[in-house]
Amino acid sequence: MPPSPVEPMPLCGIVAADLDFLIGFGDESSGGVGYRMPWANDRMKDDMAFFRRTTANSCVIMGRKTFESIGNFLPGRLNIILSKQRELAPPDGLLKQTGERMNEPELQEYIHSTNVGQSKTAGLLAENWDEINRLLQLLGEERPENLPGFPPAYLIGGAELFAEAQKSGRLHRLYFTRIQAQLSENRRAGEKPIYLPEALKQRLEEAVKSERPMQHLEQGPRNLYSADIYDIKLVEDLTDPADTSKMAL
Ligand SMILES: NC(=O)c1ccc[n+]([C@@H]2O[C@H](COP(=O)([O-])OP(=O)(O)OC[C@H]3O[C@@H](n4cnc5c(N)ncnc54)[C@H](OP(=O)(O)O)[C@@H]3O)[C@@H](O)[C@H]2O)c1
Repeated sequence: MPPSPVEPMPLCGIVAADLDFLIGFGDESSGGVGYRMPWANDRMKDDMAFFRRTTANSCVIMGRKTFESIGNFLPGRLNIILSKQRELAPPDGLLKQTGERMNEPELQEYIHSTNVGQSKTAGLLAENWDEINRLLQLLGEERPENLPGFPPAYLIGGAELFAEAQKSGRLHRLYFTRIQAQLSENRRAGEKPIYLPEALKQRLEEAVKSERPMQHLEQGPRNLYSADIYDIKLVEDLTDPADTSKMAL
């Protein structure tokens, strides 16, 4: 019997983009597939620290191409990867499949064993957004102390998932790092630029004009570029905002 439908969980997104809302490069040439960000991670250290601190001991949701660009599960977090491919190769054997291949008790047992909130690394493959909803609902039931209210999980990209989440009204809030540079020229031969979706760009444009950033990152030895981090509410009646005090750099 198919699982009963569950209410979509509100998601908090986290993303960094340049002044043109460029978030990544994709290279699908010569049979190989590669995705990467237009800046070197180790040259945006303060932003990476913000990302790590914000998502630590939590659940991160990402598209298959973003997962590929990272190359592994993010440590100390429950990673949920959205893909239609059922044969996605797990990097370390932990990846489990949801849907018909894992029944509810097995899933509950797995989620229980992952110990979200206790620095354990784990990964799950979801085939569609309904599966993600189901997983988040189970997580909330299993670990209410670690996933209290909003946000239950972080959507970390890429552009395709942000577009779908915004369109369906799931994306309630976004931690948005605006890198003060235009980086399309960092593209290598064969790579195509990947931008945030148009509807989200428009909302972010408005927000950065009218709102003050929650953090400013200086260019310097730790950072290749200067940047501003914004905390943007995408849903007007958001009543239970996340406590951002623990996220101060
Ligand atoms: N700057 C940043 O903060 C940031 C953050 C994240 C990612 N990135 C960059 O963004 C790029 C990747 O973004 P992207 O938009 O090309 O790809 P993506 O959103 O990461 O992944 C797209 C893939 O997700 C799966 N998917 C999407 N919607 C689905 C649905 N409804 N049901 C099932 N599966 C679904 C599909 O995988 P299958 O094809 O396997 O079915 C699809 O090909 C990379 O370059 C990465 O480095 C940057």
